Amino acid sequence: MARSMLQAVSTAVFGLSAISLPLANAAAVSSTATSARSQYTLPASVQYAENVIPNINDPQAVDAQSVCPGYKATNVQNSTFGLTATLSLAGTPCNLYGTDIDTLNLTVQYQTADRLSVNIVPTYVDSSNYTQYLVRDSLLAKPALDEGVSETSKFHDLSFSWSNDPTFAFTVQRRSTGDVLFTTEGSKLIFENQFLEFTSPLPDDYNIYGLGEHIHEFRLGNNFTATIFPADIANPIDYNIYGSHPFYLETRYFEVDPKTGNTSITTGNATDPSKKYESYSHGVYLRNTHAHEVLLRPNRITWRTLGGSIDLYFYAGPTQPAVTKALLKSNDALPAMQQYYTLGYQQCRWGYKGWSDVEDVASNFSKFEIPLETLWVDIDYLGQLRDFQTDPNTWSIEEGEKFLSSLHSKGQHFVPIIDSAIYIPNPDNASDAYAPFDRGNEVGAFLKNPDGSLYIGAVWPGFTVFPDWLSEGAQTWWVDEITAFHEKVSFDGIWIDMSEISSFCAGSCGSGNLHLQPVHPPFALPGEPGAVVYDYPEGFNITNATEAASASSGAASQSSAASVSATTPASTPIYRPTVTPGVRDVNHPAYVINNGQGDIANKAISPNATHIDGTQEYEMHNVWGYQILNATHNALLNIFPEKRPFIIGRSTFFGSGRWAGHWGGDNYSKWGSMYMSISQALSFSLFGIPMFGVDTCGFLGNSDEELCNRWMQLSAFFPFYRNHNTLSTIPQEPYRWGSVIESTKTAMKIRYPLLPYMYTLLHLAHSTGSTVLRALSWEFPNDPLLANVDTQLLLGPSILVIPVLEPQVSTVQGVFPGIAEGEKWYDWYTQTPVSATAGKNETIDAPLGHIPVYVRGGSVLPQQEYALTTRDARNTPYSLITALSAKGTAKGELYVDDGESVKPNATLFVEYAAENNTLTAVPQGAYVEPQPLANITVLGVPSAPLAGVTFNGVKLPSSSVAYNGTSHVLSVTGLKNYTAAGAWAHKWTLKW
Ligand code: GLC
Repeated sequence: MARSMLQAVSTAVFGLSAISLPLANAAAVSSTATSARSQYTLPASVQYAENVIPNINDPQAVDAQSVCPGYKATNVQNSTFGLTATLSLAGTPCNLYGTDIDTLNLTVQYQTADRLSVNIVPTYVDSSNYTQYLVRDSLLAKPALDEGVSETSKFHDLSFSWSNDPTFAFTVQRRSTGDVLFTTEGSKLIFENQFLEFTSPLPDDYNIYGLGEHIHEFRLGNNFTATIFPADIANPIDYNIYGSHPFYLETRYFEVDPKTGNTSITTGNATDPSKKYESYSHGVYLRNTHAHEVLLRPNRITWRTLGGSIDLYFYAGPTQPAVTKALLKSNDALPAMQQYYTLGYQQCRWGYKGWSDVEDVASNFSKFEIPLETLWVDIDYLGQLRDFQTDPNTWSIEEGEKFLSSLHSKGQHFVPIIDSAIYIPNPDNASDAYAPFDRGNEVGAFLKNPDGSLYIGAVWPGFTVFPDWLSEGAQTWWVDEITAFHEKVSFDGIWIDMSEISSFCAGSCGSGNLHLQPVHPPFALPGEPGAVVYDYPEGFNITNATEAASASSGAASQSSAASVSATTPASTPIYRPTVTPGVRDVNHPAYVINNGQGDIANKAISPNATHIDGTQEYEMHNVWGYQILNATHNALLNIFPEKRPFIIGRSTFFGSGRWAGHWGGDNYSKWGSMYMSISQALSFSLFGIPMFGVDTCGFLGNSDEELCNRWMQLSAFFPFYRNHNTLSTIPQEPYRWGSVIESTKTAMKIRYPLLPYMYTLLHLAHSTGSTVLRALSWEFPNDPLLANVDTQLLLGPSILVIPVLEPQVSTVQGVFPGIAEGEKWYDWYTQTPVSATAGKNETIDAPLGHIPVYVRGGSVLPQQEYALTTRDARNTPYSLITALSAKGTAKGELYVDDGESVKPNATLFVEYAAENNTLTAVPQGAYVEPQPLANITVLGVPSAPLAGVTFNGVKLPSSSVAYNGTSHVLSVTGLKNYTAAGAWAHKWTLKW
């Protein structure tokens, strides 16, 4: 996308983010709200959000580098695998944003040939210390030293060096290129109890990716602060959102001297087509669960955390796949294998009012013959919005049982939401009893205030408590509640929400207020007075002028009413927390991170909420969402011991992929949100969460036909394919508009046949750490022009998607990677090669309803047929598309198992290879796949096979062979008879 377009899209999305209700004003709005169940609104006093100013924006903020002393290394001991040293404060403590720690232990390990760790911890702490929290290995896996590796560092591609002049600094270098990857030379190490800082210069215009979770272009650029602190906030551009992924991938491009083969670093992505380049990628992971910030600035990166230790891991790569695989494996973070059905299409919305609504939805999908695999329900189904109970009127257990058994009999599935917070009943009202709370409370399952009383915040149902995952009681209680609930409602997977962990009020606002239960959230819900949704996608005024005009006048009158009723809050002076040396103030850390919600206690439970072992949310907030996914995974295994748990969660930490997938959160029905979904997906590929998708057609605001048409097509290439929208907005299931029915089917007629390929990609991700959705720069690492591309994506190595991301156009600009190196791309629809110029943005026809998709030459893609459920699709014959490279070769693979078992009894892996007019399939493994092979289509066959075509030496009848001399496509059909025992029962060879 041209930069100017990107700018426009960003502004559109950013502008919209202003509609997310700031808590300070929320009470005013909600006081006008009415709701049947609303009896009382949270006291306004608890809505106060301190007026803090992030340090990065505060002109008065002191730069730690200018006043703090740094450290000197002594007692340096070289060990078999690295070195250890003592670091002592090199001067008077600055106590700037905390208390300086006098002495630190440094441990450097060459852990494997491609991984180096640098660990710096205060000398006085051990793992039982709570005031300088060190991440427990039981919580987050810790990359381990591989003692089998060479004893000396000389075989490692990364080297570590250090100096003491003027203060301690360290440098990590890539030995093979001499390139300095990270150096604190010229800066000081700052290590205070509530503030750590280390910083390194970087090349000009560097290419850094990762550091989630944010809505930002995929390549992060050099003017961005990545705040890593989970927040329940509706997808604002550049602010911290739901998850924590303190990892980055950096790619550096080098110009190769054609004579000597020597390389020299290029600046950023400047390229000269006459020159050759190559790239090296490395990764950096900081294993720290505190709130932190990574400042990306011109030529520099700076990490700042609010505590903990420096537990850094450098991954040598030198390619993106090598970095990601090593990162995921060493952190026990290989992604979960999913059940096959989870790749089918999923429909959700906030606002289905009862079983009869979802029944209608399901029957509409079948009426319009659009695949529907899984129906989702939002908090609407929860009785009084409380977990583990359904609304007896419209969501009765009996009616649900009938509906779900019919859904299941059709091969379809059901996933309900389970919210993170647990309602706490009104003690003065016996009819408000809520047994799940009582049972949890009995076993100490909930977080406490520092005085030992329950910490009581507020979420959808009213005042709530929050599970303390460090308590054994919480773990078993959660498993038991989910298991018991499954006996009433037979769900197939679970959607975990609000897990940042979100709370709508500051502090333990429910303490002393439970007699007011159930309270309404402190803001109007979408559709309630004052929050009627009038927003539509960009371009709606062109396609639907009349409706757009009426929406805009509705919006205008709503906002003028709001400005009359809202009391203007008196301007609060800026609050700048100060330091008392020796005192740890978790509620008001002196360094103010750039949190999208302002104060770190805002819209989240307070930093001083306390866990059973004494740790506080201050150090655990970033992993709350990670832990609930672990507990939910255990619950699903308890219910279905043999089946792979299917969970989609909102808040994740690096490593959550081993239990769950993730959706991109509360996006907007805007073109910019659709564009950003590509960057989100690619980032989550790096974080080991391939099971990713976004709210297709947009969550906040009303969608429209054109946006939904394009978006249903783009999301069809994401592993997690779900359409979801917010309460009170217009319905947006794909059958709502004629053209969307068609565009959805067009895209699904690519997706469903490709499910065997997608499932194989997931299996490879699960077993090796490879990725499913890929950036162009990962597959084509020697082209600096691709470093920035986030408007296109690859599904695995072989499928290129160039979606339309803006309204009112019928063409799209796209680049075909690798052309300069002889890569061949075939148009999915015509099966003919694309004629494209290397490095050029080509203009591609893309009228509404058409998504440009290409097959990479050199690929063999196993396929089955399109069907309305994955169960039916799996019961169809296979076919193969073999897209020959310019050299006439191709390869591919297929993984098959029963599609659901945690430990399948048998598996099958097939490898395909084509060369010299011959395609072979070599199966391995005992899984019996009964489906035969029907067809093989070979693209890019230069001339007719004059001697005919043979399958395993048997000449095929001419009725089975067709060659098109114009398209150069060879079609072989009628193979079922030859493969009646199963397409992959034996090795076979096709010759043409
Ligand atoms: C949160 C979720 C959203 C859900 C809503 C109501 O905003 O992110 O997906 O629809 O809560 O449960």
